[in-house]
Amino acid sequence: MTARIIDGKAFAEGLRGRIAGHVQRLQREHGITPGLAVVIVGEDPGSQVYVRNKARQTVEAGMLSEKYELPAETSEAELLDLIGRLNNSDRVHGILVQLPLPKHIDPNRVILAIAPAKDVDCFTPESVGRLSIGLPGPVSCTPLGCLMLLRDTLGRLEGLNAVILGRSNLVGKPMAQLLLRENCTITVAHSRTKNLPEMVRGADIVVAAVGRPLLVKGDWIRPGATVIDVGINRVAAPEKGEGKTRLVGDVDFEAAAKVAGAITPVPGGVGPMTIACLLANTVTTASLINGLVPPKDLTP
Ligand code: GUN
Repeated sequence: MTARIIDGKAFAEGLRGRIAGHVQRLQREHGITPGLAVVIVGEDPGSQVYVRNKARQTVEAGMLSEKYELPAETSEAELLDLIGRLNNSDRVHGILVQLPLPKHIDPNRVILAIAPAKDVDCFTPESVGRLSIGLPGPVSCTPLGCLMLLRDTLGRLEGLNAVILGRSNLVGKPMAQLLLRENCTITVAHSRTKNLPEMVRGADIVVAAVGRPLLVKGDWIRPGATVIDVGINRVAAPEKGEGKTRLVGDVDFEAAAKVAGAITPVPGGVGPMTIACLLANTVTTASLINGLVPPKDLTP
């Protein structure tokens, strides 16, 4: 058996097109231009690439982008002050503070300062609570992207066994909430889980989000299962030459693709969906802030 490859890049492109359509409608019918503020503290090169991509795609979708690049020495008080101003800005409907932050800044204090109505990362207790009880609001970007790919691949997810590897606040926990809302049966596995291969073999859906390169082997996968690989790990690639690297997921793609029914590649699977879903959340928060119902195709 050879798995169908789930093309996240193509899906994300289509999603961005639909988002641009919703933005035009908000402007035309309500005079609203959704605005996203992205804040980065320090010079981490990886984070800077992400932030640049987020800003570019925001503008391409017809939205307003505000980018704040603060020096690494920025104090926590200065950052909290900026967030306060963004909370009060009428132009801004979404606030994203890029993580990780420098060591001298407490990420939890920063997250708690973000107005829940503008929390496009779905990091605040209010947003996490709304997601868990099914109220409208922003939804964690990567899990929302995974859910869209799963629905597109499988249609209805009701009754399926889903095993999620990883229990992070960013991916594992919100993914569990979303799949529970779809009436899946959920197992959240983590570093202390016993008999991990056996557990994964029981899964109709596997979502791997632990950040361990090639952890999931081909013989862990149930024939026909759908595999969503959230991992993005840079590993040495001596076959490409000395000092060269390549990106791999948390799943041994070559082996798993021989067994699975469908699988996301790395790169080109979940990755492109995350930023697209950030834009989707900005349209959602811009709608809710203005008392409008968010577009159904951008929410779970
Ligand atoms: N750093 C890595 N991923 C993310 C994300 O989804 N949101 C934020 N704010 N920071 C990140």
